[in-house]
Amino acid sequence: MAAMNAIRNIVILTGAGISAESGIDTFRSEGGLWEQHRVEDVATPEAFARDPDLVLRFYDMRRESIQTKLPNPAHEALARLDRQWTGGLLIVTQNVDDLHERAGARRVLHMHGEHLNAWCTACDTRSRWTGPLIDRPECPACRSRALRPDVVWFGEMPYRMDEIYRALREADLFVSIGTSGAVYPAAGLVQGARELGIATLELNLEPSQGSHWFQETRLGRASAIVPEWIDEMLNP
Ligand code: OAD
Repeated sequence: MAAMNAIRNIVILTGAGISAESGIDTFRSEGGLWEQHRVEDVATPEAFARDPDLVLRFYDMRRESIQTKLPNPAHEALARLDRQWTGGLLIVTQNVDDLHERAGARRVLHMHGEHLNAWCTACDTRSRWTGPLIDRPECPACRSRALRPDVVWFGEMPYRMDEIYRALREADLFVSIGTSGAVYPAAGLVQGARELGIATLELNLEPSQGSHWFQETRLGRASAIVPEWIDEMLNP
């Protein structure tokens, strides 16, 4: 790994593992969200076309639930890094919760969308949304009743990939936190980082599917290993 003091620009990818200790279910663990619900029933455009009520109810429940959760020490440590790191930083999250922001992080990009946004499929406006969508409320911008969760479903293109690759090309370090490495293109960022010759570090409870791509892997709970790593970065 490059000497810490040679690092200026950092790209961090986070996944469900960073929010697990806040009480939000991960997707692929035992009893995880994709064991409780079939992806094909709730997280594809086809599912929404077939049974919109089922899909809207599922996301209404998730939207309500995340608002009762709190950031944990891993989110707080990343927010501290964001405040204190004078170099480039981009926290790319696959998570649709808002715990990075509620901890105080600002340089956050939600590549899989956000629970607390509704997307109007009539006028393409995104509005902050904390209540339910099941009763087909009006879009605040155009008054159509065509709002859907602003969450990227399987078969849809993740958001802002050009910005993510631009940040990666300028980065000296790529860090992956709490993600299983099962879903592309997020899972492929580490390979991109290696091709660019960037230092790579993985922080996860267990080795991810792409663990062999990382130069260094540290295993443990995010609430312990993320603050530890950030202390090293801020006090080299
Ligand atoms: P996964 O559920 O696939 O993986 C979560 C990872 O976090 C696993 O590798 C766990 O070992 C790890 N983990 C669990 N608890 C942890 C803890 N306390 N500390 C550190 N690590 C922990 O979730 P993601 O990789 O985020 O996409 O899933 C990627 C995408 O698949 C999601 O964004 C979502 C899902 O389908 C969409 O909905 C588009």
